[in-house]
Amino acid sequence: MIECRIISAMPFDFRQHTALPRPAITLDDAHRIGRERYGLSGAPLELGSNQDRNFRIGDAVLKIANSVFGEDELRAQNAAADAVAAAGLRAPVCLPDVDGARIGAAGGHRVRLLSYVDGEPLTGSGPYSPELARALGALSARVALALADLEDPGARQLTQWNLRIGGEVVGLLAGSIAEPWRRDRVLAIAAAADAALAPLRDRLRTQVIHGDITDDNVVQGDAGLPDGVIDFGDVAESWTVAELAVTAASVLHHNPDDPLVVLETIAGFHEVLPLTSDELDALWPLVQLRAAVLIASGEHQVALESDNAYAAENRPQEWRSFVTASELDAADLRALIAWRLGAWPAAEPLGRPAHPLLDARDAARLDLSTTSPLLDGGAWLDSDIEDRLLTGRAVTTWAEPRLTRSVPLSPREVATLPLGVDLVTPEPTEVRAPAAGALRADGDALVLVADEYELWLTGVEDAPAPGEVAAGDRLGTASRLHVQVSRAPGIRPPAFVRPSLADTWRRVCPDPSVLLGLEPLPAAPSPDAVLASRDASFATVQEHYYAHPPRIERGWREHFVDTDGQTYLDMVNNVATTGHAHPRLVAAVARQWALMNTNSRFHYGVVAEFSARLAALAPEGLDTVFLVNSGSEAVDLALRLATTATARPRVLTMREAYHGWTIGSDAVSSSIGDNPRALETRPGWVGLIDPPYRVDPAASLASLDAALGADTAGFIAEAIFGNGGGVLLPDGYLSAAYARVRAAGGLCIADEVQVGYGRLGDWFWGFQQQGVVPDIITIAKAMGNGHPLGAVITTRAIADAFAAEGSMFSSAGGSPVSCVVGMTVLDIMEDEGLVENARVVGGALREGLLSLAERHPLIGAVHGRGLYLGVELSRSGVPATAEAHAVCDALLRDGVIVQPTGDDKNVLKIKPPMLLARESAEFFVEALGRVLDVVGA
Ligand SMILES: Cc1ncc(COP(=O)(O)O)c(C=O)c1O
Repeated sequence: MIECRIISAMPFDFRQHTALPRPAITLDDAHRIGRERYGLSGAPLELGSNQDRNFRIGDAVLKIANSVFGEDELRAQNAAADAVAAAGLRAPVCLPDVDGARIGAAGGHRVRLLSYVDGEPLTGSGPYSPELARALGALSARVALALADLEDPGARQLTQWNLRIGGEVVGLLAGSIAEPWRRDRVLAIAAAADAALAPLRDRLRTQVIHGDITDDNVVQGDAGLPDGVIDFGDVAESWTVAELAVTAASVLHHNPDDPLVVLETIAGFHEVLPLTSDELDALWPLVQLRAAVLIASGEHQVALESDNAYAAENRPQEWRSFVTASELDAADLRALIAWRLGAWPAAEPLGRPAHPLLDARDAARLDLSTTSPLLDGGAWLDSDIEDRLLTGRAVTTWAEPRLTRSVPLSPREVATLPLGVDLVTPEPTEVRAPAAGALRADGDALVLVADEYELWLTGVEDAPAPGEVAAGDRLGTASRLHVQVSRAPGIRPPAFVRPSLADTWRRVCPDPSVLLGLEPLPAAPSPDAVLASRDASFATVQEHYYAHPPRIERGWREHFVDTDGQTYLDMVNNVATTGHAHPRLVAAVARQWALMNTNSRFHYGVVAEFSARLAALAPEGLDTVFLVNSGSEAVDLALRLATTATARPRVLTMREAYHGWTIGSDAVSSSIGDNPRALETRPGWVGLIDPPYRVDPAASLASLDAALGADTAGFIAEAIFGNGGGVLLPDGYLSAAYARVRAAGGLCIADEVQVGYGRLGDWFWGFQQQGVVPDIITIAKAMGNGHPLGAVITTRAIADAFAAEGSMFSSAGGSPVSCVVGMTVLDIMEDEGLVENARVVGGALREGLLSLAERHPLIGAVHGRGLYLGVELSRSGVPATAEAHAVCDALLRDGVIVQPTGDDKNVLKIKPPMLLARESAEFFVEALGRVLDVVGA
């Protein structure tokens, strides 16, 4: 049923019509209109549109205009398409209807039939190459040139896409952005962009523009480069530079990891249609405004029409490009644009000057990188650390990311990469011009404009008056000098930039150390190059997290730092109980190494001390300790203890469990998340029990009953299901299971490698939660804080029975260094109250996750206790595996390391160092909430 009426006569003004649902036209309606008005018989296929309805019928596109657009506007669109076609580009031609009209009416709507422009659009085509990005810019400019002289009253419309009212549009529509943080961010960016544009508005050229030269609306020709333009629905009088801003914003969609490809688009445009300095100043604020408009109107349209799949699907991608646009600083971008459009050599390093700026060859290189020993023990976090270290005669390194600039708990990339060098000398030293040029002052900087670069200096005293200087002329004296070279004319370059933009910035601001007589240092290998060498010689089956992992070389408390000086909150490292690089542990281990390290066949005190301490932590009766090197070894040994003590062969284990990689511990590991063939390949001596969270506890116990027999040596289980993401077993389950196993003559093994050792907060051991006492306990991970250390704790009788297998010797198990590690970890846990911290901070974290679950349907359950938690992601009960991976990838970008676990890899395992600060827990909840707002929408 077609029932809209044509209502428009005045040029359209979006501010008067913010609600623009698409015309209610069905495929049948389109079919009928095509047949009746244009004599078309083909079946219509709907094409996406935000506010109109478009249908492809054969070689033509039937367009049903939104009823707010009048005949004038549609005529202007036709005129614009004609002008673009006349300029030699491929564009749709408007075809007459059966009455010869180019703009017809059908059922109360204005309808047009356009010729179909052949070729694929660039939608979804992946990252743009520089050539493609440049071609898109050039095409945008050719369209703007073609429309420059078009005068048409119908183009006076102020659509929501007209960036002249962009700020107002965002203000009108942002209310549809449900999440306050997203709304605030969009409003803030739009307001800042509007403020930056205010002084420029009247100085920008105006003309009719297409207004939507983006991946969706250009089509590729034979060479794969775009040469056709479609969808003239946003044609309007606007700013010339707005044509480029819209195109540039769309390039960010395609290149979120390499956003500076957008410089090629700008260069491509500028070569065809040179922009003025004011237009270049306005460009990035306009790109940011466009990105904000896309978010606000996308959300508005989805709120208006929940069935608009086109608008809904674009949301995550639009958010990503909004974030990219907003994180690129407008002033930095302006410098990059000046460089890209400038005439100075793009890539070559600087030549050695005849007259150095200053001779720094005897200065010590100050190491401020992630691995610098000067920054150990958390010293990198002191706010005055650079000043304290820059003493004597020292020089810093260009383009080496500085740990001193790192900011823990930062949700975005931090500018750590220096584009200049700092030099200190004990006495003021003379500074001389390394090249002839014009000298000027700019704020606190002295700038020498030479033939091939601008030299930016801060810290120069007694500088001569501005004017021409010759190479070798005195520029003053300095005892602390910042030296930076720039090829972006007339614009002060930033001192530090984000490492992800390093490739481009290193060309804009080349290494100035040759001006100081220094040899440039070779660049460090990229993380991907190091990964390739790892893959070449390290077994790839020993997998790594993430496809492109950051190269992490330092840890501190619950934070990791990569070689770019970016920090990550470590939410996955249950092994690092006392946090990373704990100074007490570092000192204790160093001291023991300085004394000796050997094996436990020798007699030394700490093995006695440590064994007694572990035995004291275990329930009464479990008084005998074996020390080994890992959880797998501990489990292997526990299985052998059970089989020798009972003289029986068979062990029962849960489905979906992981207990280690050695032959024995692997045999009782059944998780298909770790080994997809696990269920088919268990050896005959292993029996599988259905876990009581997959089936009813009674059914699980029945499966245990069925598996028990006279050959049963024991039953191994985690008391809280670590591998499933911290799933608690039903109350009373283990006591019922243990009773059955013992009645059958078997032993009960509690694998506490993951969940034991205080992490649960309320209980030191996982089995305490179930109110049971096992016969054998296995521990590892947490007890060594990453040092290879594992243990089995059992009764004297079970331990002695092992003598039937001969003696037991583990070369490094229980070594002095290992025992010192184990003792110090326990000391730190006690002295710093880490079990209590796990209870309190873990409790708050759990509350935070539960409240996230209330507003995010993607969270199916929150498992666990203390600092062993799991966030299960599912949609209507179906494991959300792909979303869990997307969440982890997005969290990495936001500075958080977390990974999925479980058979379906859909549970985020949350088991951070036990000293996790409350602030870090809050940071994590906020980051996860933000990511779910986008990924889980
Ligand atoms: C429950 C459980 N047991 C045993 C192991 C094996 O420990 P390791 O990696 O130290 O050999 C693991 C390792 O993840 C585990 O989670």
